[in-house]
Amino acid sequence: MILVTGGAGFIGGNFVLYWLANPLAEGIVNLDKLTYAGNLQTLQSLEKDDRHIFVQGDIGDYGLVLSLLKKHQIRAVINFAAESHVDRSIHGPGDFIQTNVVGTFNLLEAVRTYWVDLPQTQKQEFRFLHVSTDEVYGTLSPTDPAFSEINRYEPNSPYSASKAASDHLVRAWHHTYGLPVITTNCSNNYGPYHFPEKLIPLVILNALAGKPLPIYGDGQQIRDWLYVKDHCSAIRRVLEAGRLGETYNIGGCNEKPNIEVVQRICGILDTLRPKVSGSYADQITYVTDRPGHDRRYAIDATKLERELGWKPAETFETGIQKTVQWYLENQEWVQGVQTGAYRDWLDQQYQ
Ligand code: NAD
Ligand code: DAU
Repeated sequence: MILVTGGAGFIGGNFVLYWLANPLAEGIVNLDKLTYAGNLQTLQSLEKDDRHIFVQGDIGDYGLVLSLLKKHQIRAVINFAAESHVDRSIHGPGDFIQTNVVGTFNLLEAVRTYWVDLPQTQKQEFRFLHVSTDEVYGTLSPTDPAFSEINRYEPNSPYSASKAASDHLVRAWHHTYGLPVITTNCSNNYGPYHFPEKLIPLVILNALAGKPLPIYGDGQQIRDWLYVKDHCSAIRRVLEAGRLGETYNIGGCNEKPNIEVVQRICGILDTLRPKVSGSYADQITYVTDRPGHDRRYAIDATKLERELGWKPAETFETGIQKTVQWYLENQEWVQGVQTGAYRDWLDQQYQ
């Protein structure tokens, strides 16, 4: 079996569904703390699938992690678990240090204890794949080349600093203890089951609810959008053939200014769910910028393509069409998520 952490979140949840869609796939132990971002509704279709074992718990719980590794004879760990929202890290960085730094440290220690005692063949085949972000590289000017794996780490937010710290720990556990690790750094994901505090799902749902579509600053910040299923296929490929101790950048080759992303969503909604009068774009509202807002991210994923033959299948145009359609067709999931902590957070951020 493999151990997936954070498998009730956006990317982890998509990965669990993607992996288990293959009837021959190994089973998954899914360890997730179920913070505000963890949503078991995403995994409802697996309720009767014995290959999925869900455990509510913390990656920072050394004893729990070690017992799961031993009990299920885990052959690979994929670490998605993290506090992931930049704006939340600005309001309250403590949880980010606790989970992303201290949690990753405890997870690495539990994995090392388990791995060291494995029989030789299993020891060689074992993998620890750490999922990280392009934000660790800092920000780009409009003319800079895209981030490659040798870019210097220059994190600018409490979130990216905590992810950078976790990447360094993972690297050190390889160089010092020989733990068989691989790290992936990917760009902005979007697609089904995305928690609606992040730009794309927030805009789709606010548009449909007749609410303002908040654009930070001038809306000219650039992100490189990656359809979440493409991210899942890249992770599977890196897990099966990535070189130990290496890092691989994963990107969508889809650089877009935020305002263009929002206008595109409005255009799709104008066609699929036209308003009685006017366009959804009329709801666009410019709001105060994010402190320390990184201007541009872009990923150079040529190493992954050259070494492992991976390329994204979706363009932004096809991916965003599918995403908007998914939100229109999955109102039950949307309503489930629009409760409790999510509402409190929206009030705090936008009042
Ligand atoms: P998410 O916030 O949607 O999900 C995170 C999941 O981790 C949640 O289910 C949460 O309950 C769980 N979790 C949080 N703390 C935990 C802990 N201490 N122990 C166990 N589980 C815990 O995040 P996401 O967008 O799915 O991101 C997944 C990973 O990918 C993160 O490591 C993030 O840094 C990275 N990443 C995300 C993006 C993106 O665009 N979303 C891009 C690059 C990298
Ligand atoms: O680059 C990878 C990162 O992408 C991941 O590491 C993070 O976990 C993930 O949350 C995401 O971070 P961003 O800050 O880029 O994503 P977010 O959706 O929060 O914002 C995308 C852009 O849109 C960013 O430039 C800020 C802007 N924005 C966001 C919100 C929520 C707005 O203009 N208005 C908004 O209301």
